[in-house]
Amino acid sequence: MKSFESIITRIRPRFHYYMARIAERVEKEDFMSVLIENMTIKRGRKKIIDGLGLSIMDGEIVALVAPNGTGKTTLLNGIAHLLPVTYRKLEINSFSPHSLNFNRSFFYLESSNNLFEHLTILDHLLLIKKNWQSKIAIDEVISLLKIHKYQTLPIKKMSLGMKQHALLATYLISDAPVLLFDEPLNGLDPGSIELTNTIIQNLAYKKKIILFSSHDIANIQAICNRVLFLKNGKIARDTKNMNEILALYKQLYGG
Ligand SMILES: Nc1ncnc2c1ncn2[C@@H]1O[C@H](COP(=O)(O)OP(=O)(O)OP(=O)(O)O)[C@@H](O)[C@H]1O
Ligand SMILES: [Mg+2]
Repeated sequence: MKSFESIITRIRPRFHYYMARIAERVEKEDFMSVLIENMTIKRGRKKIIDGLGLSIMDGEIVALVAPNGTGKTTLLNGIAHLLPVTYRKLEINSFSPHSLNFNRSFFYLESSNNLFEHLTILDHLLLIKKNWQSKIAIDEVISLLKIHKYQTLPIKKMSLGMKQHALLATYLISDAPVLLFDEPLNGLDPGSIELTNTIIQNLAYKKKIILFSSHDIANIQAICNRVLFLKNGKIARDTKNMNEILALYKQLYGG
């Protein structure tokens, strides 16, 4: 009879081979990304985004930075395919805009103005949970954001900060792998900023991709691990060094 050791010795190489194959497959299936090549977006005759390329991997919290009117919102709308846009490649988690899965691979609402004013937070959460096929519990989102008191108030009766909470709630319930935010901290009080920061960091920990525009350098330094500077329609600088972003901002845009 063969010894236990000899059997182990014989199957070990095969075992390692299969484990490596499984790991490779899991990695591929779990792997998330936003890939853009040669993207151009025109508003009127002006090219706001001009041959832009970009790739973001999962777990990254990426800030999109540039002065007012440069094209941050335009770029986010372009990635979400909400504006006429041309590109060589636009893929979210390997899905191109032609794929039915594209729209479910990300969540983006430009601002709380895009919420339905006659509906409540609860109405929005039910709608999004269904459409994004999310397994996140509505109660969990409501309690995380501490929005019990106005969960049944129509959006039109809310203050700016309350609407921003409602907006954040829509992102959380979507459970989408890629979250695109346009200035998510707008109108929030310091406590709500801290809560939003914590939520964004937890989402990245869950391997979501977070891309958000912001003008708040100190806050970006506190929570991001990468910053993209937009200039002349392209990513002019891309850094992971949070200590250099203020200097880079001045260098690129002056002031
Ligand atoms: N609906 C539109 N029609 C024509 N041009 C537009 C339209 N919306 C934006 N633009 C132009 O596109 C450019 C970029 O605007 P965008 O809103 O993307 O800038 P932004 O970087 O998000 O600025 P901000 O920091 O002020 O939000 C601006 O020159 C603006 O005038
Ligand atoms: Mg903007």
